[in-house]
Amino acid sequence: MGMLDGKVAVITGAGRGIGRATALLLAQQGAAVVVNDFDASPAEETVKMITDQGSKAVAFPGDVTAKDFGERFIKTALDTFGDLHIIVNNAGYTWDTIFHKMTEEQWDAMLAVHLTANYRILRAAAPYLREKAKQELAEGACVMRKIVNVMSTSGTHGNAGQANYAAAKAGLGGLTKTLAKEWGGLNICCNAVSFGFISTRLNDEKEKGELAFGKIPLGIPQAMRDQIMFFIPLQRPGTTEEAAGAILFLASPLSDYITGHILAVDGGLMM
Ligand SMILES: NC(=O)c1ccc[n+]([C@@H]2O[C@H](COP(=O)([O-])OP(=O)(O)OC[C@H]3O[C@@H](n4cnc5c(N)ncnc54)[C@H](O)[C@@H]3O)[C@@H](O)[C@H]2O)c1
Repeated sequence: MGMLDGKVAVITGAGRGIGRATALLLAQQGAAVVVNDFDASPAEETVKMITDQGSKAVAFPGDVTAKDFGERFIKTALDTFGDLHIIVNNAGYTWDTIFHKMTEEQWDAMLAVHLTANYRILRAAAPYLREKAKQELAEGACVMRKIVNVMSTSGTHGNAGQANYAAAKAGLGGLTKTLAKEWGGLNICCNAVSFGFISTRLNDEKEKGELAFGKIPLGIPQAMRDQIMFFIPLQRPGTTEEAAGAILFLASPLSDYITGHILAVDGGLMM
């Protein structure tokens, strides 16, 4: 018996890092998962890892910033698994520069992936989620549905070099709280996780030269990574499994009375 038996989840950016760990954990708890990633082969690997453990998943590769992505993504969940209970808006990357050198392309790219794409996914899901909830309420059933938006301590507290990313993640916080207020009466909880320093390629050593889409440099200079570690009370980065655990909490019945919350998952960094 899993906490998510019979539930259907969609997760963006689930070919690597936090998204993959979340897809695996939700599937272990019984959810059928639609696995998106920009890169097809990591998405398919995640699906294989899930189906190998005896759970259900389907890959849905593609760019979340495509205008029609949300519609196609939600339709895939409904056509393949017949329902939709959990949406995890996770896909993203960073494109850092100090503000006075930041191009409009960098600014637009962060708003597109961390805010507008999530808005479109939720807009596409709205008609189904709302109608289904109204039917269930009319029948006297109480079925909870969950939206988990992935934010960052950069969005809640700001971060030098990340004005574009911080603005987009902060905007996602506003969207989270607003939907929590609008959809609470439909038993749809809308929460966010605010990650600090989780070990993924996003904040691996910059010196390793990891690139997003083969062109945008990812990572943090080693000297800066050491500095950040000094301020984390738990004195280490979080693992992707620990990050996924927080998302599972907000996606599961354990959090049925929590909505509009931004859960800090940062080893105490921003307390
Ligand atoms: N790692 C951290 O410390 C940290 C901290 C705060 C917030 N976050 C957030 O967590 C989320 C996951 O990041 P991660 O650390 O696991 O990074 P990651 O690079 O390991 O995984 C992110 C995945 O998202 C995918 N992706 C990026 N842009 C996409 C697009 N346009 N369409 C579809 N897929 C796309 C990538 O291909 C990648 O597989 C991001 O939203 C990130 O901003 C991470």
